[in-house]
Amino acid sequence: MDVAHVEHDLVSTLISEEQIQQRLQEIAREIERDYEGKDLLLVGILRGAVMVMADLARALVRHVEMDWMAISSYGSGTASSGVVRILKDLDTDITGRNVLVVDEIIDTGLTLSWLTTSLSSRKPASVNICTLLRKPAAQRMMVDLKYVGFDIPDEFVVGYGLDYAERYRNLRSIGTLAPHVYS
Ligand code: PRP
Repeated sequence: MDVAHVEHDLVSTLISEEQIQQRLQEIAREIERDYEGKDLLLVGILRGAVMVMADLARALVRHVEMDWMAISSYGSGTASSGVVRILKDLDTDITGRNVLVVDEIIDTGLTLSWLTTSLSSRKPASVNICTLLRKPAAQRMMVDLKYVGFDIPDEFVVGYGLDYAERYRNLRSIGTLAPHVYS
């Protein structure tokens, strides 16, 4: 779906489809260099990371494996608490593997901080994080983000996997949601 179909719900387009695809190509080249000669397992975090996983994996000119996790963070309302429950675990044994966690947005960083610690206890060769979007709060966290697509302001963004009440995930680009939609 294009933003034109929901333009009254958005304040503006924050990142266009072309900008997303261009940035993913750049990140793919970095990943190819960094993991040259090594195996690579991409781990997508359901559900928001579906789009970025699909496009990043296809941008990579090398073999990769893909697996998925679903996690739920206990929190009050929209705030992330950092207390996380695994709803769907990996099907892959990651012992000795190079794991790259792929997510669409990092806000407080609490979810991926917990996940990185959890995955590290399974004795992988490495665990790194790739996120398409990073909000300001995450820049203050100690989470080590190896690949970041875009730093964005602390606004309510939707599209390209990001939802509000499960809508807008299928937008091709990323936009700022208009307050009248959620207030
Ligand atoms: C998003 C994102 C991260 C988390 C980041 O998932 O995919 O997992 O929030 O938040 P944090 O940095 O503040 O911990 P969300 O809870 O929106 O679930 P979804 O991907 O299923 O939409």
